[in-house]
Amino acid sequence: MSEKMVKGFLVSKTDTKGKITYCNDAFVEISGFCENELIGKPHSIVRHPDMPRAVFAYLWEHITKGREVNVYVKNLAKNGDFYWVFVNVTPSFDARGQIIGYYSVRREPSREGVQKIGELYAKMCQAESSGGIKAGAQVFGEFFENLGACYEDFVMHLQVGEKLADK
Ligand SMILES: Cc1cc2nc3c(=O)[nH]c(=O)nc-3n(C[C@H](O)[C@H](O)[C@H](O)COP(=O)(O)O)c2cc1C
Repeated sequence: MSEKMVKGFLVSKTDTKGKITYCNDAFVEISGFCENELIGKPHSIVRHPDMPRAVFAYLWEHITKGREVNVYVKNLAKNGDFYWVFVNVTPSFDARGQIIGYYSVRREPSREGVQKIGELYAKMCQAESSGGIKAGAQVFGEFFENLGACYEDFVMHLQVGEKLADK
């Protein structure tokens, strides 16, 4: 299966459970689905099996607390092709401060980021195949502990092609 390159911004919105409520034309096009096959479906419709479960647990842990998150994600197209994205997910709030859904914008990731994160995710998936999500989360935690940086700092630096200071 071949890799697709992301052009522009791939936008989607979900309800609080992660069901798709909106996607832009670029998102629809790269996914290979029709818009009506996406709207109302769980966002995991584009989930690639190479993605560790612990990464999505990390994503949901942030957004359900009202925080934004930036994550490298490998997505699956309808025909089996894949595409890497650097996604920013933010909660949307009502006037009383309650979360009413989530908004996400994906862009082309850096190739160095895909390389490094791809290696980490492969180790996490391997751990998860025998030890479940807990084992994946442990690999994730140990990687950043050894690095002396958090995932957020790591990916933001990778994305702009900077090295982490003194690491
Ligand atoms: C706004 C938003 C955007 C998301 N974008 C993606 C995405 O591009 N790819 C993906 O696999 N999961 C995405 N997710 C996470 C999915 O909701 C889900 O947690 C993930 O696909 C794992 O699904 P599973 O737990 O059913 O295996 C997104 C979630 C939200 C709230």
